[in-house]
Amino acid sequence: MYNEKVLKIFENPKNAGLLKGANGVGKVGNMQCGDVMKVYVLVEHDKIKDAKFKTFGCVSAIASSDVACEMIKGKHLDDALKVTNKDVMEALGGLPPQKVHCSVLAQEAIEAAITDYKKSTEKKKK
Ligand code: FES
Repeated sequence: MYNEKVLKIFENPKNAGLLKGANGVGKVGNMQCGDVMKVYVLVEHDKIKDAKFKTFGCVSAIASSDVACEMIKGKHLDDALKVTNKDVMEALGGLPPQKVHCSVLAQEAIEAAITDYKKSTEKKKK
């Protein structure tokens, strides 16, 4: 069902785990499958210095989180927000049609983490 790239990333994700010093966290879930994805970002000068994830989910959810974290590292927040689930799927070499929603979860988790960062920095400014 999965291509080799997806399986390789799933077996050996580079960005799994807690990110120490993270200043943005996004938690999203899919009600239908019950999978939950958390993305942590460390933002400095509006750029994503580091990103990690913790995903309780299927093979493609874990692989999607990993490539999504990899893709946003080093990017300006505005550019990171432009990463779509299609980009995630492309980076994975494709996902089975019934697994497209797993890549959507990764896009949503990135958005949630960046929103969380922006909210917390705004609060500090007040
Ligand atoms: Fe739901 Fe993969 S089956 S995130």
